[in-house]
Amino acid sequence: MSYEFFKISPKYAEEILLELFDIKGIASQLPGEIDLNFRIKIKTEDRYILKISSPDEDLEYLEFQKDLLLFIEKHGKQIIAPKVVKNKFGEFNSIIKDDFGRQRNVRLLTWVSGRIWSTVNPRLDDLHFSLGEHCGILTKLLQSFEHSKASRKFDWDISQSLWTKKYNHLFKWEQVEMISYFQNRFESKLKAYSKLRKGVVHNDVNDNNIIVDAGLISPNVKGIIDYGDAIKTQIINDVAITCTYAIMSHNEPLAIANQIVKGYHSAVVLQEEELEFLYILIGMRLVITVIKSAINKIENPNNVYLLVSEKPAWELLHKWCLIDEEFATLNFRKSCGFFAHPNEYKFKKWAKRSDYNLADLFPSVHKNKIHSLDLSVSSRWIGHREEYNDIDLFQYRMIKLRTQHPEKIIAGGYLEPRSVYHSSSYDKMGNNGKESRTIHLGIDFWLPAQTPVHALFNGEVIMAVNDTGDKEYGGLIVLKHTLKDLVFYTLYGHLSVESALKRKVGEQLKKGEPIAFLGNYPENGNWATHLHFQVMLTMFDFKDDFPGVAYYDQINVWKSVCPDPNLLFKSKALERKSINKDEAIISYRKNHLGKNLRLQYRSPIKIVRGEGQHLLDQNGKHYLDTVNNVAHVGHENYRVVKAGQDQMALLNTNSRYLHENINELAKELLLTLPKELCVLHFVNSGSEANDLAMRMAKATTGNIDIIVSEMGYHGNSNSCVDISSYKFDGNGGFGAPEHTHVFPLPDAFRGKFRGERAGEEYAREVKKQILNIQAKNRDVAAFIIEPIISCGGQIELPEGFLKKSYKYIKEAGGLCISDEVQVGCGRLGKTFWGFQLHNVIPDIVTIGKPLGNGHPLAAVACTREVADKFANGMEYFNTFGGNPVSCAIGVEVLRTIRKEKLQDNALQVGEYLKKELKLLALDYPIIGDIRGQGLFIGIELVNSEMLPLGEKTNYLVDRMKDYGILMSSDGPDNNVLRIKPPMVFTKDNADDLIFYMKKVFSEDFMMTD
Ligand SMILES: Cc1ncc(COP(=O)(O)O)c(C=O)c1O
Repeated sequence: MSYEFFKISPKYAEEILLELFDIKGIASQLPGEIDLNFRIKIKTEDRYILKISSPDEDLEYLEFQKDLLLFIEKHGKQIIAPKVVKNKFGEFNSIIKDDFGRQRNVRLLTWVSGRIWSTVNPRLDDLHFSLGEHCGILTKLLQSFEHSKASRKFDWDISQSLWTKKYNHLFKWEQVEMISYFQNRFESKLKAYSKLRKGVVHNDVNDNNIIVDAGLISPNVKGIIDYGDAIKTQIINDVAITCTYAIMSHNEPLAIANQIVKGYHSAVVLQEEELEFLYILIGMRLVITVIKSAINKIENPNNVYLLVSEKPAWELLHKWCLIDEEFATLNFRKSCGFFAHPNEYKFKKWAKRSDYNLADLFPSVHKNKIHSLDLSVSSRWIGHREEYNDIDLFQYRMIKLRTQHPEKIIAGGYLEPRSVYHSSSYDKMGNNGKESRTIHLGIDFWLPAQTPVHALFNGEVIMAVNDTGDKEYGGLIVLKHTLKDLVFYTLYGHLSVESALKRKVGEQLKKGEPIAFLGNYPENGNWATHLHFQVMLTMFDFKDDFPGVAYYDQINVWKSVCPDPNLLFKSKALERKSINKDEAIISYRKNHLGKNLRLQYRSPIKIVRGEGQHLLDQNGKHYLDTVNNVAHVGHENYRVVKAGQDQMALLNTNSRYLHENINELAKELLLTLPKELCVLHFVNSGSEANDLAMRMAKATTGNIDIIVSEMGYHGNSNSCVDISSYKFDGNGGFGAPEHTHVFPLPDAFRGKFRGERAGEEYAREVKKQILNIQAKNRDVAAFIIEPIISCGGQIELPEGFLKKSYKYIKEAGGLCISDEVQVGCGRLGKTFWGFQLHNVIPDIVTIGKPLGNGHPLAAVACTREVADKFANGMEYFNTFGGNPVSCAIGVEVLRTIRKEKLQDNALQVGEYLKKELKLLALDYPIIGDIRGQGLFIGIELVNSEMLPLGEKTNYLVDRMKDYGILMSSDGPDNNVLRIKPPMVFTKDNADDLIFYMKKVFSEDFMMTD
């Protein structure tokens, strides 16, 4: 029968509604597989759904559905489901005749308001948990619902899904392979499956049947609709169906399923034996979906609704097949609070009673004590990436360490987050961006090459391979140990290939027998000669390899699969140190550090390492940094680090002795400055630089009045706060001091003056302040401004503004100070210094953040005239300013900018990024303005009335962090995203940034007014 014949027009539906229910409404047809469904609006509000069944609908089943809804209405206080509405004759079911004279059943249900799941964006962990929980509550409620029609023959019931086997011929070979895998697995477990508990379940919790509340930031599932597929079947089928639809179109479906299962279990306790089937049942639901689609394509080629899930279902089927069934099951077990591996407890109990020591593993070494070595992301011992990647250096340091601890074996590493695994085989594209495998699953023992390794227990060799791939891992052996009621495995990595290959699979080794020898450096790995020793409770499906490192987000499953090998040795030194929880760090900060120190992000992150344009947290997660213009030539740039370290090892003292470094730094800086700015003073921070600039201006002019921009920020010292409207006009500020004169923020986008003449008009505001000062019988000392006003919201000075303002100030006898603390050192791309963009030459330039690449180093450059006037006899002494270490660092920073052509990079990448952002703005009109130069860019978010969208800006910054991208915002209304990354930022980085910004801009919170 063709679907087309079922047609009933909305107009006819309205007539039916009036006639049967006395309700006057407007009907519009909804998509549906079997019933004809009409949404009924009364005035503007959705109120009902009118369901007109197909002519062949089973009346008894409609009765069942009605009773089910009445049961939920009566007993399900926590459940929001449609209610059945009686017709004007007091009946729930009405019968009409369609255009062909056939009988149709008509039912009216109340409308459940809210958002349909498929339209909610983003759908994050909490929402998936809430989905599972809601479905669990429903299933729990329905456990007491008995009905004679609850069981029936139904294609969509997974327990009856083997009908699908008849249709495998419709597919290509590789598709059949996937489909039949699940069919066969399901069939092979049918006996145990049929014994699982049953109940009436919804059986079709798909994207269009889930109603989500209105919360845009942390929404919850509010109700489930469409009970047309409800049936009595194995309860776990409902969990599988709920997972199947919700995990489609995600990079990592298993991670999402975990949340749903967790939520479901929180409402209705799932049993271990049920979880054993979940992976296969999800597969089987997908099999039903793709086979139904294939059949429908033949039978109803014009009905697109019947095909909606086909493409995502195939995609998921491909992904699902790649997930190991056992691994998935262990995940589900963990999500429900069971031991991930069922033998975890048994192993631990056995190991606790066992008595092994290191001498059993390495009898020739005669040592039983351990010196534990920390190689985690935050370890200072491992040092810089350039150093730990230097195999010779690592080996050398290890030998030294062994000499320092002659009576101990150097070891460590279980569950240690390491940042050293770099090849792309260690990366995955997770649901929240790229993730690397970082969690080390075994213990490493650093011992000399050729050290023999002996069997701790009787075992069978099940793997003996040369594990040398893109990295040198050397020989790998895995032994299987079978105890009375426990099987486990031990893994020995980085063996000499020759000795490992001597072992044969199937060979039995007795406790105490030698297994193989440690490989010779550098044959076996990048980290000096060592044994990687790991315990496993399962081999999954691995035949010639096994992971030694896991993703952090899967740590709870992996630590169960690979228990701590130290359970055998019980070495105190190898016990895992408890790591300070973030809450403890926050609480200490709150109690003992300045109360007005701020933390970024709703849930702050702990950063322990920097590498180029990335920051790494303590679990090794990489964040792309678009914020830190201080790490100018890249976080922990090795040349800069070395320059500092080397000089620190030699000498650090004040500038009263002769030293080359201070002169070298001066020379390097002068190379970048116009000849007029020829004298330098070195200080330790931007604030100090501006403070000194103020003193110079006052000493030079004999005046004390300063003209500043609204929202300008120049530092944290007393004198700097006095010239920073950002501070004195902000929270806790007391307004402008008597001698500070503020002109309006020269913002040509949303400021007082806009358009072509804005530059001139703002310059007139500067002039007004000069006149103001003069009206008080005083004269201006200085005018200070950044070439792009950073805290003010990346405000580019309008054309002509600076030139005119400088002219007015100079005419009035004042000095012009360019604060280059944020924008200097090539960041703006076209020019090395910001003032050069405006064709002016200041009297004083202050330089800060980038100069030391994170080391406190700043400078003041001035004209000879200013320098001479400042040197009035009073010594300028600065304990740290210009010290040899700081200067060595500064020199290296400036040379690196030159050598690595970073100014040019800023120009190229910055222009590219702006171009891409402008394209993005076409799709997301809340991007009101994109401005800036080089790698100093501002993105201002406004609504259609040009009103600032501060909350949305904050939201975006927070969400981008979840995707591993650090951003910041500022401006008077905090609605400007500021992009000012390390200058090694690449086009690829820009692409990643755009990719994730696009994702977040399309989220509900960003899209709604
Ligand atoms: C434009 C500008 N000037 C001066 C400073 C003060 O520099 P510091 O924090 O190094 O004292 C800052 C700091 O953010 C700044 O942005």
